[in-house]
Amino acid sequence: ALQRSVANKAQKQSQRLQYHLQPRASFKVAILGAAGGIGQPLSLLIKMSPLVSALHLYDIANVKGVAADLSHCNTPSQVLDFTGASELPNSLKGVNVVVIPAGASRKPGMTRDDLFNINANIVMNSVEAIADNCPDAFIHIISNPVNSTVPIAAEVLKQKGVYDPKKLFGVTTLDVVRANTFVAQKKNLKLIDVDVPVIGGHAGIMILPLLSKTRPSVSFTDEEVEELTVRIQNAGTEVVEAKAGAGSATLSMAYAAARFVESSLRALDGDGDVYECSFVQSDLTELPFFASRVKLGRKGIEALIPSDLQGLTEYEQKALDVLKPELKASIEKGCQFC
Ligand code: NAI
Repeated sequence: ALQRSVANKAQKQSQRLQYHLQPRASFKVAILGAAGGIGQPLSLLIKMSPLVSALHLYDIANVKGVAADLSHCNTPSQVLDFTGASELPNSLKGVNVVVIPAGASRKPGMTRDDLFNINANIVMNSVEAIADNCPDAFIHIISNPVNSTVPIAAEVLKQKGVYDPKKLFGVTTLDVVRANTFVAQKKNLKLIDVDVPVIGGHAGIMILPLLSKTRPSVSFTDEEVEELTVRIQNAGTEVVEAKAGAGSATLSMAYAAARFVESSLRALDGDGDVYECSFVQSDLTELPFFASRVKLGRKGIEALIPSDLQGLTEYEQKALDVLKPELKASIEKGCQFC
C-alpha cells in the first residue's frame, strides 16, 4: 500500500510538472516593456504557460539579461530578446498576442493621468509597429492612463487601416483580481469561487465594482459596499504609497496580466467559455469605450455582456452616472492626441 501511495504521489507530481512542461498549443506572445517592473514577472508567468511556444521580449534597454535568465527555465517556450527601436518590428512578426506594459509608472501624489505625456507617445509608437507587423494580433494595453491609451491605440490602428475593435483590450484585470480578493476576505468566502465584475474605466471613481453581481451571491450592508468600493478604487494608490517612490503595482499586475493573456490564448485555442472584464470599444453605454465583461473567442471579443448593467442597485447606478463625464473626458483626450 505504501509503495502504491508513493507511486501515486509521484505520478500526480509528474502530471503537475507536465502541465508546465508539455506544450499544448503554439502561440507566440510579445511583451513590449519586458525589462520593467511589470514586464519581468509577467514574462516569467507567461514562460510557464503550456499554450506558448515563443516569448518575444522587447524593451529599449536591459532585456538581454532578462531573456537569458528566463530561457533557463525548463518550460517549452523559446525566449527571444529584442532591444531598441530598430528591433521592434522583428519582435512583433508572427505574434498572436502583444502585451504593452511599457512606460512610466506612478510615484506618490501622481494620478494615472499625470503619466499621459510620457506614455501616450510610447503607446502610439508601439501600436504603429503592431499595425505594420502583426495587425491580426490581440493587443493588451497595460500602460496608463488606460482610459486614454486605448483610444490612442484605436486611432493609430484606424489611421493605418487595420483597426479591429474586437482585438484591442485595455487590461483592467487587476481591478477584478483586487475586488475578488477584498470581497473574499471581507465575507470569509473561498477565494477561488469569488467573481466580481468591474465596469467603467481604470482610474479612481471610474473603477466601478458591481458588488451586487458578485458570484456566489452574497449580501452586503451599505457600509460594506461603500468601504469595499472605495478600497477597490484606491487599491493602486495603496501600493504606490507603500512602495514610497519605488513605483506602482508590479507583481499583482503581472499576475492579473498573465491571467488575461492565458484567457486570450485559451479563447484563441477554441475554448468556448472564456469571459474577462476589459476596457474595450463598446455600445453598452453612450461612451465609445467602456470596461465590462466580454466573451472571448478565436477572433477576439465575441460578445459584450449587457446583463451586467441591468438591475444595478441605486448606489451602483449613481456611481455609474457620476463616472461617465470623467471617463468621457479621458477618452476624448486620447482620441484627440493622434
Ligand atoms: P517600469 O518603469 O518598471 O517599466 C517600464 C518599462 O518600459 C521599462 O523597462 C522601460 O525601459 C520600458 N520602456 C520605456 N519606454 C519604452 C518604449 N518606448 N518601448 C518599450 N519599452 C519601453 O514601470 P512598470 O511598473 O512596469 O509599469 C508600466 C506601466 O504599467 C505604467 O504605465 C503603469 O502605470 C502601468 N500600470 C498599469 C496597471 C493596470 O492595471 N493597467 C497597473 C499597474 C501599472
